[in-house]
Amino acid sequence: MNPPTGVKIVTIGGGSSYTPEFVEGLIKRYDELPVRELWLVDIEEGREKLEIVGKLAQRMVKRAGIPMKVCLTLNRKEALVGADFVTTQIRVGLLDARIKDERIPLKHGIIGQETNGAGGLFKGLRTIPVLLEIAEEMQELCPDAWLINFTNPAGMVTEALLRYSSHKKIVGVCNLPVHMKISIAKLLGVQLEELQIDFAGLNHLVHGLNVYVDGKNVTHHVIDLLSRPENQVTMRNIAPVPWQPDFLKALGILLCPYHRYYFKTKEILEEELEAFKKGTTRAEVVKRLEADLFELYKNPELDIKPPQLEKRGGAYYSDAACNLISSIYNDKQDIQTLNVQNQGAITGIPDESAVEVNCIVTKDGPKPIPVGELPVEVNGLVQQIKSFERIASEAAVTGSYEKALLAMTINPLVPSDEIAKKVLDEMLEAHKEYLPQFFPKKV
Ligand code: G6P
Repeated sequence: MNPPTGVKIVTIGGGSSYTPEFVEGLIKRYDELPVRELWLVDIEEGREKLEIVGKLAQRMVKRAGIPMKVCLTLNRKEALVGADFVTTQIRVGLLDARIKDERIPLKHGIIGQETNGAGGLFKGLRTIPVLLEIAEEMQELCPDAWLINFTNPAGMVTEALLRYSSHKKIVGVCNLPVHMKISIAKLLGVQLEELQIDFAGLNHLVHGLNVYVDGKNVTHHVIDLLSRPENQVTMRNIAPVPWQPDFLKALGILLCPYHRYYFKTKEILEEELEAFKKGTTRAEVVKRLEADLFELYKNPELDIKPPQLEKRGGAYYSDAACNLISSIYNDKQDIQTLNVQNQGAITGIPDESAVEVNCIVTKDGPKPIPVGELPVEVNGLVQQIKSFERIASEAAVTGSYEKALLAMTINPLVPSDEIAKKVLDEMLEAHKEYLPQFFPKKV
């Protein structure tokens, strides 16, 4: 019997409110990326959301008139058999856990965010063991498939998967570089295809080292534009506090919106503390937004992605994901910014560690384009965050309290060893249910 034609994609965390965006991306690209089956997988707690999102996905595909089958299941192993691509977009502990990641650090006067600092550490501790389990299942059930992870903290998760999983076809994806490119193209009034940015760094700590329009270096002009308060590039989930213009000009490198946590710690913390008091931390806002989105998704008349989804920070994630899948499938050899194994691309970061860099995407996966040394002005912070990610990954895999305490204390957003220990202990207790590696069941 001939093998089936077309692609089989499995999306784990398929009940996510972001799924309609992914489905829209697949529909748009159907001619170049003929998806035979899209399997949306979730867990028991996500059953209702999976049903709602799954039915919307089926209506979207019907409207598009393409022969893409959308299957819904709670049986992950059944779905993984024969997959070509597996995308992961899970949230262990759901949004209530994110609320704790944000509110507990703020209660102690430090930044609470789902990918940085104490919150990022705990999201990683909950998520990494689950992603490793998925990767091991893939090794058994679909060893040739690519694992494409969007789950945050994407940098730390990719680091852990690359180091500790026996499945090696792993790529981390984030919408941030795509988002920055779109914003800068708009600012310059040029087409996206004319713009090239040399991205390098880590996830949520990526830099634009050079910007070109049609091959001409326009970095200084872009920095000039970005240093004006009216031209701030940020995401829905990060307050647009404007950059100090002289600092940006002296640096001469494009920063990403998440750099604000490190270079504008005080201002961002003030914003977050305000939100903490009002009950409007990002997680709380997103929880309300999600409830509204699911109400919309339930409407049997709805058969497109509703524009309200663009209020989420992850807008354009589907472009990043679908472009990657299509380029591997079609051996496009185009350039995309991805989280991959460094393999010498950035000097001074271990070869086996994850970095976010421009890659050439081939049928054998993304190949990082050599960067060399990062500029001295940004290298220090990158090294510190890489150390944090490595120690945090080790803590997630081993369940070592000492490693978790070290990760927390060396994080630049945690200002003292005393606070680190207090926050760590409180968060371990609060997330106990989702941290079996730290609380093994007594027999
Ligand atoms: C940005 C980041 C994503 C993150 C999202 C959060 O887009 O790049 O990694 O998931 O923001 O958005 P949210 O709407 O959940 O706050």
